[in-house]
Amino acid sequence: MTAHLAQRATELRAQLNHHAHLYYVLDAPELPDAEYDKLFQELQAIEAAHPELLTPDSPTQRVIGAVLSGLTPVRHVVPMLSITTETDTTEGGAIAFDARVRRELGLSETDPPVEYAAELKFDGLAMNLRYEDGVLVQAATRGDGETGEDVTQNVRTIGQIPLRLKGRSEDMPAVLEVRGEVYMRRDDFEKLNERQRERGEKTFVNPRNTAAGAIRQLDPALVRQRPMSFYAYGLGEVKGWQLPATHAGLLDALAAFGLPVNGDRVVAEGVGGLVKFHQAMAAKRDALPFDIDGVVYKVNSRELQAKLGFKTREPRWAVAHKYPAQEQVTTLLAIDIQVGRTGKLTPVARLEPVFVGGTTVSNATLHNVFEMRRKGVRVGDKVVIRRAGDVIPEVVGRVPGDRPSYVPNFHMPRACPICKSEAAREKGSIEYRCTGGVFCPAQRKQAMLHFAGRRAMDIEGLGDKLVEQLIDAGIVQSLPGLYKLGVAKLAALDRMAEKSAQNIVDALEKSKTPTLARFLFSLGIRQVGETTAKDLARHFGTLDKLMGASVEQLLEVPDVGPIVAASIHTFFAQRHNVEVIEQLLAAGVQPKESEGEGDDRPRPLLGKTLVLTGTLPTLSRDEAQALIEDAGGKVSGSVSKKTNYVIAGEEAGSKLEKARTLGVTVLDEAGLKALLAS
Ligand code: IVH
Repeated sequence: MTAHLAQRATELRAQLNHHAHLYYVLDAPELPDAEYDKLFQELQAIEAAHPELLTPDSPTQRVIGAVLSGLTPVRHVVPMLSITTETDTTEGGAIAFDARVRRELGLSETDPPVEYAAELKFDGLAMNLRYEDGVLVQAATRGDGETGEDVTQNVRTIGQIPLRLKGRSEDMPAVLEVRGEVYMRRDDFEKLNERQRERGEKTFVNPRNTAAGAIRQLDPALVRQRPMSFYAYGLGEVKGWQLPATHAGLLDALAAFGLPVNGDRVVAEGVGGLVKFHQAMAAKRDALPFDIDGVVYKVNSRELQAKLGFKTREPRWAVAHKYPAQEQVTTLLAIDIQVGRTGKLTPVARLEPVFVGGTTVSNATLHNVFEMRRKGVRVGDKVVIRRAGDVIPEVVGRVPGDRPSYVPNFHMPRACPICKSEAAREKGSIEYRCTGGVFCPAQRKQAMLHFAGRRAMDIEGLGDKLVEQLIDAGIVQSLPGLYKLGVAKLAALDRMAEKSAQNIVDALEKSKTPTLARFLFSLGIRQVGETTAKDLARHFGTLDKLMGASVEQLLEVPDVGPIVAASIHTFFAQRHNVEVIEQLLAAGVQPKESEGEGDDRPRPLLGKTLVLTGTLPTLSRDEAQALIEDAGGKVSGSVSKKTNYVIAGEEAGSKLEKARTLGVTVLDEAGLKALLAS
């Protein structure tokens, strides 16, 4: 009986590990969550009834764990070193590194170029994962490099880290210490902070500190609420394994063991390739889903690495080149209140301009007054500004220091600073809103900017300076008024030449035939983002049908829940909203009512999912996406087994690689066009 159960437990573990790898590392799940849960529960039941069958690499062991009283020190068999880090990130840096390597290897100018492996420098914390016979037995932090701390229990919560390496047991190294970086993705970090904000709890400063704090937590229940990720980049102690000859080969081998290895890496001959990689990654940095602080160059050949050796604490065969920091300290000059499109009042910090994350920042959000209080920031303070990715710059905290005792605390105003209507906090909400609605010029300005936006009516040239002038001077009062603007009226404005006035009139004319989805999105209905707008357009087909829909009918739209349905219904029930729409139509705006059920255009991509990567020769990403969606297809951000096609352009990166591993069809722009025409 037990023999049978033991076999079943082994089987279940293998299956669960396989599916966890597909899910966490390859991002290509094959099994519905519920099925996975069933297998998981079956295994849990067996182990509960027969504790002697429990193994430390069992997937059930990711989630169990007691509160610790402290972390145990771990002595590293092979010390965990750091890398020489240089902030001289120009070409000169790579050239100097190459020259150093060549000199130390005794190479002359006539010798061939040295081969390098270039990869990202992840901004997290270093981790040593010890696998014995393929089973994760210990995870330790770097500590001082000689001695770290045992954080095995917490590392087990990281779904991407295999508890057992993939492969045949006879191929498992007796000891394999994998080194890499534990980090937190930006979206996981934002979600975490969003939740903290909603609960009125303290927000976290940045993903790195959050991950570093979480990994040393004593209570595993808390750790599980801080989702972390991992990338492998090197080795510690190894026994009973034939090491690959190159660093690149090593990373491939680690990936084959089921460990997450980042796809943005290249092997480069000499300096040229390093510089190119540096530039490409600097350009890509903002679009990455996680923070990096630079790139790392490593001599690819392990034999040459051994020849080069170490100088005290750093290898001579590697160097890190840092990008400009994404956090800087500056002075908080003043706090203003910004009024958003829906009337939300946000405190905004006016700052002593500071260069951070690649641009000069002079404004940053303070989110809300409660968060400001928790951070204790006041005018005059030295504050830390963070700008990472395309996230809006924010004030993350104050630098402790003296402040004159008379700085008053900040209070939210009782009235909208723009239209003087009452500013109120809705029940149960931490947000203050201006109650002025369309009477508030600030709300009108934001609504107009949203209407004109690239993803809405796409009125080129109608930016914030112009909108400000139009509304402040009373030239345009509401959206339909835009279409009554003539060249003469526009040309009379400040800094507006006849030519640019004509361009704007042309852009307005061009905007008159939006898709129904864009038109709906441009109206700024609360809860209706781009995706919902598309769903609504597809479902109802015409504006009339949508405007006449009951809450029940709205609920029939896939992905529309009660809150969204109520918001849409309320919007169309308001007389002034209907008037604005009627006036827009009267002014000649004609949404293309052709994407709904009555649509008889061919939709060759119906039910297909496509992924775009790299730069296409003629189409911008938005254009390609629009064409695909018009043809009934969906565009997804990541490649999985369910992806039908990957459309790859120049400089396509990890998505292309993944498509190849998964056997997904890869097409170029011409191939896409052929599909669309089919
Ligand atoms: S290699 C012997 N590669 O940067 C070389 N380190 O100061 C050991 N890091 O503590 C490090 N990304 O936590 C290496 N691709 C990468 C890295 C990386 C981030 C961190 C690592 C280390 C620090 C080096």
